[in-house]
Amino acid sequence: MSRVLVLHDLVAGEVRADEADVLVQRDVVLAALRELGHEAEALACGLDLASAERELRRRRPELVFNLVESMARTGRLIHFAPCLLDALAIPYVGAPADAIYVTSNKHLAKRLLIAAGLPTPPSWLLPDLERAGASASGRVIVKSLWEHGSVGLDASSVIDVRDAHELAAAMRARLDRLGGEAIAESYVDGREFNLALLGGPNGPTVLPPAEIEFVAWDESAPRIVDWRAKWDESSHEYQDTPRRFDFDAVDAPLVARLVAIARAAWDCFGLRGWARVDFRVDRERGPFVLEVNTNPCLSPDAGFAAALQRAGIPFAQAIARILDDLPPR
Ligand SMILES: Nc1ncnc2c1ncn2[C@@H]1O[C@H](COP(=O)(O)OP(=O)(O)OP(=O)(O)O)[C@@H](O)[C@H]1O
Ligand SMILES: [Mg+2]
Repeated sequence: MSRVLVLHDLVAGEVRADEADVLVQRDVVLAALRELGHEAEALACGLDLASAERELRRRRPELVFNLVESMARTGRLIHFAPCLLDALAIPYVGAPADAIYVTSNKHLAKRLLIAAGLPTPPSWLLPDLERAGASASGRVIVKSLWEHGSVGLDASSVIDVRDAHELAAAMRARLDRLGGEAIAESYVDGREFNLALLGGPNGPTVLPPAEIEFVAWDESAPRIVDWRAKWDESSHEYQDTPRRFDFDAVDAPLVARLVAIARAAWDCFGLRGWARVDFRVDRERGPFVLEVNTNPCLSPDAGFAAALQRAGIPFAQAIARILDDLPPR
């Protein structure tokens, strides 16, 4: 039995559903830890790092389960919590601080994916577009550079642009709703898959791949899993984006390729614990990695728990595996 501290975002006042979700994760992880016989308690970590440090020194956990997704309501500071744990030499499960940082910045993550030879759609940041001679055209999606959970995404996030100037203007107009920094990515018109991975002694297990289907979708609306599809249960976007795990034999080579890329993405970033890799598949050009999610959502209605259920792995058993997937000391 260990003394495990579940570290999570400080959630205060009026917050969006995506921000409050970490409290659901905290509670299911605490329950699983107790079921496993551990002494478990929780600590909220906000921007007051001095008080977080004091609390951590006072409580002296043997292990921290890191669920921190943002600080002061910004994803840019996501790595502060694991950096503090590193500085205090307190072991923690989930991805290491550096992997959390480079995957949370979608642009940095894509540069590293490209360097590792993994497919990801072309993208632009505002400074790229402001350079003389910059070019950009075609269908793109403008999304947040740092935030997750489809923050700021809706049908109007997918646009057709003729040049760099037009794209830059569209990105600037969306900065506020995207947490201050945007990335534009070439739009991949195709199927969407999520691959969940669970750490283990011989490398990660890739859990059953899930496809997000777009049913009863208006032809004029882009097929994207936007904010409403993730967080507004009453919306058509939420109700008409079911997950499926059963595939026809004809999909076997595609699924095998997704599994191989997901595993390579885990190695590329030196991940630990648990992760989820999001893909879109172009009919001709094949799969593209949209992003790599370190310590992804563990809520019962999210993709990771669904993949565990499909694999027949009880939630508490998955938590036990995450606890064992520690870096060598
Ligand atoms: N290049 C793209 N082409 C097509 N659709 C895209 C593209 N990028 C994002 N999307 C759509 O937007 C959704 C959210 O994008 P993405 O996963 O990059 O952002 P996120 O907010 O970090 O999400 P998460 O909740 O997974 O952390 C995707 O699930 C997909 O439906
Ligand atoms: Mg995603």
